[in-house]
Amino acid sequence: MDYARKLYPSGFNPLFLKPSRPLPKEVAVIGAGTIGPDIGYYLKSALPGIKLYLVDVVEAALKNAQKRYDEYASKAVQKKKMKEDKAKEILQNIVYTMDYSRIGNCDLVIEAATENIPLKQKIFETVEGVVPADTIITSNTSSIPADRIFNKMNHPERATITHFFAPAWRSLPVEVIRWEKASRDTVDYLFWFFAQTGKVPIITDNVLCFMLDRIFDNWCNDAAYLLPYAHAAQIDKVAEEFVFAGPFYVLNMANGNPIITETNTLQMEEGACYKPAAIFPSVDRWLAPRPGSKVAVPDDLKKWIRERMLGILFSQSFDIIDRGIGAKADLNYGCQIALGFRKGPLDIMRDIGEAEVMRVVKTFDQERPGFPLPKASYESYQDFKRFLLVDEINGVVVITLRRPEALNAISDEINNEILSVLKENTDRPEVKGFVITGYGTRAFSAGADIGKFPQTLGNFEAAAQYARDCAEVQLFMDKMDKPVVAGINGMALGGGFEIALRCHGMVAAKNAFFQFPEITLGILPGIGGCIVPYRKWPRGAKLFHEMICVARPINAKEALDIGMVSKVVDNIPDLVAAAVEEVKKLQGKIRRIPDGTVEIPDFTLPDPPVAGKQTLSKEAVSITMKTIQAGAGAATFAEALEIGYNGSAEIACTDAAREGISAFLEKRRPEFKK
Ligand code: COA
Repeated sequence: MDYARKLYPSGFNPLFLKPSRPLPKEVAVIGAGTIGPDIGYYLKSALPGIKLYLVDVVEAALKNAQKRYDEYASKAVQKKKMKEDKAKEILQNIVYTMDYSRIGNCDLVIEAATENIPLKQKIFETVEGVVPADTIITSNTSSIPADRIFNKMNHPERATITHFFAPAWRSLPVEVIRWEKASRDTVDYLFWFFAQTGKVPIITDNVLCFMLDRIFDNWCNDAAYLLPYAHAAQIDKVAEEFVFAGPFYVLNMANGNPIITETNTLQMEEGACYKPAAIFPSVDRWLAPRPGSKVAVPDDLKKWIRERMLGILFSQSFDIIDRGIGAKADLNYGCQIALGFRKGPLDIMRDIGEAEVMRVVKTFDQERPGFPLPKASYESYQDFKRFLLVDEINGVVVITLRRPEALNAISDEINNEILSVLKENTDRPEVKGFVITGYGTRAFSAGADIGKFPQTLGNFEAAAQYARDCAEVQLFMDKMDKPVVAGINGMALGGGFEIALRCHGMVAAKNAFFQFPEITLGILPGIGGCIVPYRKWPRGAKLFHEMICVARPINAKEALDIGMVSKVVDNIPDLVAAAVEEVKKLQGKIRRIPDGTVEIPDFTLPDPPVAGKQTLSKEAVSITMKTIQAGAGAATFAEALEIGYNGSAEIACTDAAREGISAFLEKRRPEFKK
């Protein structure tokens, strides 16, 4: 059963949906406790012009929320993360009120009150009494299924659960629950709305605790079951292999003990094994030091704790997948972006391998009987794309790179996944071609994953081979008979731009821009970046010199003028439609990148070379110019590419590369010596 398709009947990339209504103008958040104000702050940050009503029955809570908003905004300005004007706009138009009658014009109401069904029902009755019948109403519960909360509503079709994660003002994921009475339109709109406002919406089924809290609650609860045999600090220490902070440290941060008791009591409807550990109500704060602290754990104890923690993690993951509570990719990714796992549970399984996973699960079953066991083959749990959403629109396979926390930067794994989607689908007769685009509104891709670069610095052979390996997707595209079109939805930088360059066509949203920032890192674009543009669009050669040697960005209009982009559109639904159209136009008409030498103009670059305020490395610029010249003079395209790989290897052995990449990773400005 394709559960993912059932959860996402309208498609996987939320921004491909044409919203049935505009962005809201007035929004209310009910509940000014812990998470409510943070949800409000996210909404105001994403849409500073909206009017926000923060509603609570306790005046002090509203005052605290106001103080919190002032602090958030001034901190953002201080850290230069936000302009003062925007901070001012965010803080304007917020109504702190105890009076529900004021929210009558709201288009969206998000309830974030205490986890208490009668209280929530009372709130919805009051809200329905003052807002129009089509106002969308959601609840931020982390555990109670939608039918139990919304069963007394007059218009449940406009209601569902939207579950945020702390800190809600910046944590990316939001679970959006699909349940029987919510209209498809309501769920689709919320799915689109959250993505449009910078979140990563994940659709899950309407079961107790939905998807990610089933992992979190049981991870914490089972950790507590280990307490008779190990200290909280020891358990946290062992867990840190898998998470950035262990369960007890997180419970302290979230005052989470009562929550686990409550949510696991609920889950007991599914089996006695979920019973909350008896210790929770008697403990206020755990003795759990900061993550990274030194804590001694004897080897045999460590092994046992590790396996128990993996046991509960695997059991819950299998159950979520087997019951179709959430999609595999969402489970894996959601655990990382919502719960602070270093790798997703399915990644951990892949790392340790089938035999070890099954051994852990068997031991866990003996020690903690009653928990779900896997119902399918091990391979089937690994059969998914971790970083790509794959939609099909009118016979065109549309690939979305989903790694928004790194602006869709291209890791080796993303590269491999793109290649495998192209390979898996290229021989399907019903597939006309492919589109590649990026998740969200900001980025097609911010380039190759810079985190990987230090491994090849200083080693010519390794760097050249790495460039060749990374080029596999591009080389495959060069030979394809079915067109691949890039839909550029924002920035297309470096290695991301190098994928787009090699697609057979490109269309862009009006906010698109293209840049090779490599030279600011003391490196050059080695996967065809110094070669392909000159061969595909020779009339842009002068511009390409500037782009590659001094990181000059170009916008969508400039890209259109030199013929790199065939169409510029206003928004993402239009972008995907234009890209699909372009695939159809290019059928049977793919132009291959030509062999032969290419005439290029002389370089006229500033001396010393600068990119914005950044003085560049003369040595790096000179290697880059030499590579471009040699590439243009090569007799065949294949030889030219090889010159590009070698150029990137030569530059990887300079001090400039070492300095530029270290500076990026240390979040400072580079200082190039020569
Ligand atoms: N590789 C790896 N991570 C990247 C990345 C890349 N190419 N580009 C961005 N990221 C990560 C950032 O490290 C940051 O991660 P963090 O939140 O864990 O610190 C996250 O994406 C968001 O980027 P950030 O720099 O905070 O956003 P910004 O809006 O301030 O700046 C850019 C956006 C694109 C200007 C900036 O991220 C940048 O210069 N990226 C590198 C671009 C580049 O040189 N690409 C060419 C490489 S081939």
